[in-house]
Amino acid sequence: MSHYVVTGGAGFIGSAIVRGLLREGVGRVVVIDSLLTGRESNLEEVRKSVDLQRADVRHYAEIAPLIRGAAVVFHEAAIPSVPRSIDDPEPSHEVNINGTFNVLRAARDGQAGRVVYAASSSAYGDTEVLPKVETMMPFPKSPYALQKLVGEHYCNIFAKVYGMETVALRYFNVYGPRQDPSSPYSGVLSLFIKAVLERQTPTILGDGEQSRDFTYVDDVVELNLKAARAPGVAGKIYNGGNGGRITLNQAWALLQKLEGVNIPAAYAAPRPGDVRHSQADTTAVVRDLGYAPRFSFEEGMRLTLEWYRRDLQGQTQ
Ligand code: UD1
Repeated sequence: MSHYVVTGGAGFIGSAIVRGLLREGVGRVVVIDSLLTGRESNLEEVRKSVDLQRADVRHYAEIAPLIRGAAVVFHEAAIPSVPRSIDDPEPSHEVNINGTFNVLRAARDGQAGRVVYAASSSAYGDTEVLPKVETMMPFPKSPYALQKLVGEHYCNIFAKVYGMETVALRYFNVYGPRQDPSSPYSGVLSLFIKAVLERQTPTILGDGEQSRDFTYVDDVVELNLKAARAPGVAGKIYNGGNGGRITLNQAWALLQKLEGVNIPAAYAAPRPGDVRHSQADTTAVVRDLGYAPRFSFEEGMRLTLEWYRRDLQGQTQ
């Protein structure tokens, strides 16, 4: 029986997809992870049920044997973060562009059934109209956004030229348990949650009126499982968002309310390369993949907050 591969499977989103696959009972799940930013501990209770292979998508020879004959490859391995790609573009170029090329090449050479690619909403840049629709012309504003867009184009080319089944999912600011809050490049909600639990002041970059379609990680998992199965989607791109839009000021206000605290945020200069507003049009993904996001922002935040609280307590015991 052919196996399932999750690149970046020890990372935040990848490990959630691994759990989703195991819940579905798909059989053998191979995790490819360099463990540079991924962590074995993200797999915790499922560690014994997966085949964790320390391999780097930058090296074709390391990953090709692991991908050969896979039913589906979920390609989540990446160096995320817009500001990190601006500060240091070379590593993210290597992983996000060359790594994606290697995964696609290995999937083609090894006759894998399908590649589901983690694309990014950052590809859109600032659009005149909201919500953002897949048919809009992308205008990336940062190396990261461009790198993720190149990966999409590669997926499309491998579908068109080599007849491969590839699907790209443009994630919209995914958040949830296991998102690492330890770096200044971490996703903003992980930083906000850490701040509220530690009763620290968060920094809002800009006026806080920029908005994001924050998407709970379990909704993204569901979307990936659907994209792995749906017929007639080769070479397509879909928005992986919730369809809503929350400002950073609203997000911080909600966290204060949930925790019952009053901690005014500090404001600093906006970040270069930052997109002002982000919101997904979900028409195509609902129609073609039967995607139905289940988690409201407040519900997702409650679950995430509780997870971080437990995690933080675990660290101090
Ligand atoms: C971008 C992509 C997203 C992708 C992610 C990967 C967009 C719209 N989204 O997220 O799809 O998954 O990169 O890294 O481009 N901020 C603060 N205080 C902080 C940190 C951040 O105010 O301490 C602000 C940022 O300036 C930004 C917002 O929070 O306006 C979100 O930032 P971040 O979580 O880094 O994600 P994006 O760059 O939006």
